[in-house]
Amino acid sequence: MNWDRSPGNVLSCPDAAFTKWVPEKWGVNAPWLQYKFLIFSVANSIAMSENENVVNSTIDNYSGRAQSFSNWAYGTEANKAALATNKFLAKLSELTSDSLSVVDLGCGPGRDLEVFKNSKSPRCTAIGVDACPELCEIARSKTGCEVMCAEFRDLEKFFKPNSIHGIFSLASLFHIPRSELSGLIEIMIQVLAPGGILLSSFPCGRDQDGNMSDGRWSNSMPLELHQQVLKSHGLEVIDVFHSKIYNGDWGVVISKKN
Ligand SMILES: C[S@@+](CC[C@H](N)C(=O)[O-])C[C@H]1O[C@@H](n2cnc3c(N)ncnc32)[C@H](O)[C@@H]1O
Repeated sequence: MNWDRSPGNVLSCPDAAFTKWVPEKWGVNAPWLQYKFLIFSVANSIAMSENENVVNSTIDNYSGRAQSFSNWAYGTEANKAALATNKFLAKLSELTSDSLSVVDLGCGPGRDLEVFKNSKSPRCTAIGVDACPELCEIARSKTGCEVMCAEFRDLEKFFKPNSIHGIFSLASLFHIPRSELSGLIEIMIQVLAPGGILLSSFPCGRDQDGNMSDGRWSNSMPLELHQQVLKSHGLEVIDVFHSKIYNGDWGVVISKKN
C-alpha cells in the first residue's frame, strides 16, 4: 500500500488511521488519548517529510548534472577510487566462497560496479543501488549490472538478512543526516552475511551535519567519530585510510560483521 505522507495529507497516513482506530477498538473513550496519538502522527509525518526533502534535494542535484558527474567519476577520479576498491576486494578475498555478492550502495554512474564485476579474485556478483534515476541508467548501460533505483534505507526490501558479503559505499553515505545513520547501519548489518565487509566513507575535515549551498546534505565526520559510530553497532574496524576523491579529504573505514 502506498500511503501519501505529504504534510497536507496527514489523515491518510497509517499512523493517523491508527489514531482513530485504536481508542474505538479498545472501547476507550478518552479524548486525551486521541490527542496524544494525533500529536504523534503529526510529528511522525513531519519527520518523514523532512527526510524526503533531504533525499529529494540531494538527488535533484545529481539528476541535473548526471552526465557531467559520470564523466568526472570515470575520468580523473577513477585512479583515486582504485585505492578503495583494491582494499575492499583484498578484505573480501579473505572470505571463503566461490562467488561473493557485493552491493555498491550509492553506486552513481557505476565506475566501481564495473571493477567488482570484472574482478577475478575474488569473483563477485555486483549489484548497484542509487536513488538518482539518470545515474542508475548510466550505470546499467556502462556495466550491464543490475542497478536498483532506490534509497539507501530500501536495502532491506531487496536483500534477505545475512545474504550480502560486501557493502561498498564510497562518497555516498554522507548524504544522509547523522540522526538517520544509526538506523541505516542497522539495516546494512542486517543484510550483511556473518563475516561480511562494509566500506563506509565520510568527509573528515570537520565535524558538521547540514545542507550544502547546492542543496545536497553533507554529514562530515572526523575519522575517530566515524569509527566510534561503527564500533557502537558491534562492527569490527579492520582498515582505516584516507581518500582524496572528488576534491575532498575522506575518511574511509572497512569494518566487519562478526
Ligand atoms: C558523490 S556520489 C558517489 C557515487 C559513487 N559512489 C562514486 O564514488 O562515484 C553520491 C551518490 O549517492 C547517491 N545518493 C545520495 N543520497 C542517496 C539516498 N538517500 N539513497 C540512495 N542514493 C543516494 C547519489 O545519487 C549519488 O549517486
